[in-house]
Amino acid sequence: MKGLIIYASCYGSTKTYAEWISEETGMQVVSYKEATDKDIENTNTIVIGSWVLAHKLFLKKWLTEKKELLKGKKLYVFSVSGAKPGDKELDHVFSDSLDAELLKDCKTYQFGGRRETKKMSGFHKFMMFIAAAFIEKDKEKKAEMKRYVDNVDRKYINVLMEDLQ
Ligand SMILES: Cc1cc2nc3c(=O)[nH]c(=O)nc-3n(C[C@H](O)[C@H](O)[C@H](O)COP(=O)(O)O)c2cc1C
Repeated sequence: MKGLIIYASCYGSTKTYAEWISEETGMQVVSYKEATDKDIENTNTIVIGSWVLAHKLFLKKWLTEKKELLKGKKLYVFSVSGAKPGDKELDHVFSDSLDAELLKDCKTYQFGGRRETKKMSGFHKFMMFIAAAFIEKDKEKKAEMKRYVDNVDRKYINVLMEDLQ
């Protein structure tokens, strides 16, 4: 299958999904840091995967910068999050991260991620601490933020695979 998979991953789960999609489609996979404007220009079908940071796609800024290049492409965007796919918390993750025109023409998917406080950078640990202590009001969610979460599962790519075919 022709196309490009572009991903942003901090701790590896989004990269794993990108590689699984690549395995099944033969599409080339590349980190957003290495994807050039030429790569985007020369490709019609683009799958973009981003981990979720503070309720938005980490790639929000990059997606805004590349908006014009991405317009008119067959676009498939997936999120990878600590919150379980379908969770209310993710309701606005795409509308808050993607230009309205891009959003209208792309397909979006939510994949389960992995969150392990022990492995986080000092800055990310600090962000999680602030969010759990002062920002999140829901008691259950506060507790949840301190728990180890591993919802990474290959099954999540199935719907995207069907749409690509
Ligand atoms: C600083 C920080 C903030 C996060 N914020 C959210 C969030 O708002 N909502 C959520 O569902 N997951 C959040 N997560 C969890 C990540 O999206 C999740 O761990 C994801 O699997 C990371 O992807 P990666 O392994 O590709 O880096 C956060 C993680 C970190 C480190």
